[in-house]
Amino acid sequence: MIIDDPDTGVFRVHRSTMTSPEIFEAERDLIFNRCWLYLGHESEIKNPGDFVRRDVGGRSIIFVRSVKSGEVRAFHNTCTHRGAIICRTDSGSGKVFQCFYHAWTFDSDGRLVGVPDRQAYGPGFRMEDMGLHAVAKVESYRGFVFISYNADIEPLTDYLAGARHYLDLIVDESEANWEIIGGSNQYSINANWKLLVENSIDGYHAAPTHDTYMKYLSSMGINVAGGLAGGARALGNGHAVMEYKAPWGRPIAKWEPQFGEDIRDEIQSMRERLVERYGAERAEVMAESNRNLLVFPNLIINDIQAVTVRTFMPTGPDRMEVSAWHLAPEGEAAKPRALRLESFLSFLGPGGLATPDDVEALESCQTGFRSGGVEWNDISRGMLRDPKSVDEEQMRSFWRQWRKVVSPTQGVLA
Ligand code: FES
Ligand SMILES: [Fe+2]
Repeated sequence: MIIDDPDTGVFRVHRSTMTSPEIFEAERDLIFNRCWLYLGHESEIKNPGDFVRRDVGGRSIIFVRSVKSGEVRAFHNTCTHRGAIICRTDSGSGKVFQCFYHAWTFDSDGRLVGVPDRQAYGPGFRMEDMGLHAVAKVESYRGFVFISYNADIEPLTDYLAGARHYLDLIVDESEANWEIIGGSNQYSINANWKLLVENSIDGYHAAPTHDTYMKYLSSMGINVAGGLAGGARALGNGHAVMEYKAPWGRPIAKWEPQFGEDIRDEIQSMRERLVERYGAERAEVMAESNRNLLVFPNLIINDIQAVTVRTFMPTGPDRMEVSAWHLAPEGEAAKPRALRLESFLSFLGPGGLATPDDVEALESCQTGFRSGGVEWNDISRGMLRDPKSVDEEQMRSFWRQWRKVVSPTQGVLA
């Protein structure tokens, strides 16, 4: 399925990994039922009783903050009575969840607290045994909440390995807490989910694929000739990052003329505060560098002009559902916030200048696979040099972990 030859610098992935129903089923079991998966950000449920409904690894999950303890919880979204979905709205706040089918009622800790005609049940029916079922594992790192359906999985901090450094770097960019700004992007792509993993950390498709956006930047007076200069690193456990300088500005804390003179001082003072807190070197990385971070298997955090959090779930070998959110410092001044929102809309959103290009590219690859004849994809670029951000080391790192997880010992790959 994967050819990985460091001597000759050849790395190939068999296209059946992106088309086979058997491999898709194996991924369900060996990846989505066993790894840590991103659930959401703590800021999405700020107050006790706040909840969000989310599909994670093909299952509906309730993400809720306990009214009693204030802790974050995750429950399988299914009634213990006869199965109905308990939480039927995307988000909200309340003390209890009531099932719409026969009105069993559960509190925010999942306890069954109300059953119509309670007297009709005998002594063997114990309310305390009939609570919502908690997801096997819920842990959070710097505000990012992950779940796993695998009770035996390693602690999240170990799993995150080298990705922790980059999550820290992003979170530390602001003195304030980070919050998901209300609303999200939701869209589907008729392509295998791993194509979006590759695309999200692919540094050299930008010039040909996003030609329109590059021309737009040029028309704004931004010099795009330098491209994306930087490096790529494997971070352990399949996580990877590409880090690079780019011609655009960053609300933290790199001013560019397209931001306008009126905000120049404000961004400069943010920059000075970063230097005070972290020293010149780390402040420079925080302000000047862009990061596309992959947390295996399917969380992407793009710290570019704005910070986006993106995850995607396969619904078949050739289709995925994508969700993306916008992460920003709480209480940010109006102008940097406006710049952030603008870049989210103009570049990364589904109606922006980049995402439709990417969707087109991914669907085109999937169509190309159906054409047949060619069996292997090539991901060899930069294999025999210190990997640049425009190389493919970050993708190889993903695929190596993928092979390890969906391995021959699991009886899936020959
Ligand atoms: S299925 Fe929920 S109360 Fe009956
Ligand atoms: Fe792209």
